[in-house]
Amino acid sequence: MTDHIFAHEHPESDRARGGGFTLWFTGLSGSGKSTIAHLVGPALDERGHVVEYLDGDTVRTHLSKGLGFSKEDRDTNIERIGWVASRLTRHGGAVICAAISPYVETRQKARAMVEPFGPFVEVYVKASVEECARRDVNGLYAKAFAGEIKGFTGVDDPYEAPTDPEIVVDTEEQTPEESARAVVARLGELGLVGTEVRA
Ligand code: ADX
Repeated sequence: MTDHIFAHEHPESDRARGGGFTLWFTGLSGSGKSTIAHLVGPALDERGHVVEYLDGDTVRTHLSKGLGFSKEDRDTNIERIGWVASRLTRHGGAVICAAISPYVETRQKARAMVEPFGPFVEVYVKASVEECARRDVNGLYAKAFAGEIKGFTGVDDPYEAPTDPEIVVDTEEQTPEESARAVVARLGELGLVGTEVRA
């Protein structure tokens, strides 16, 4: 007999509420992950989803404060994001994650955490190091190339591109709006969002 005080340990309570999914943007710094994520979010909101963002830059000021950019720290950061995404997915959220997440194996771990509760949709935001360095929104590539920052992704630290992502957007070919539209369209094909926009 299961006493009610142990109910939280019952598998039934781990059941997904349904409808949730995680959209996982991966790509180099400056590739456009956050920009596209924040264009996709309102489109999902309009379609009735409860949207939450887990953006690398924001996560690192709260949940992952104090972590650096060693492989170990990056992995911890991604596993934390994956874990929170899995909890939100479980409760029906449309979770939008945007972090470089440079390692295939760690992205797989995030996927494995989410999938018991809902689909994990990996979006590869593709742009060359040269293009990201040209954009250099926060001046970090210049510092990395000058050797002032060590272990910068794409410069002297690895980025393992996804081999089989659900979606690829090429931000050297598309505007952020075009990329966002492509993502929402793909989510539609996957049956995760409706085409109906709320009045
Ligand atoms: S991840 O590797 O752990 O996924 P995350 O997306 O959270 O990285 O943070 C990346 C952001 O941190 C970059 O957009 C950049 O602004 C900043 N940053 C600072 N140092 C580095 C570094 N060594 N490599 C990559 N990004 C860095």
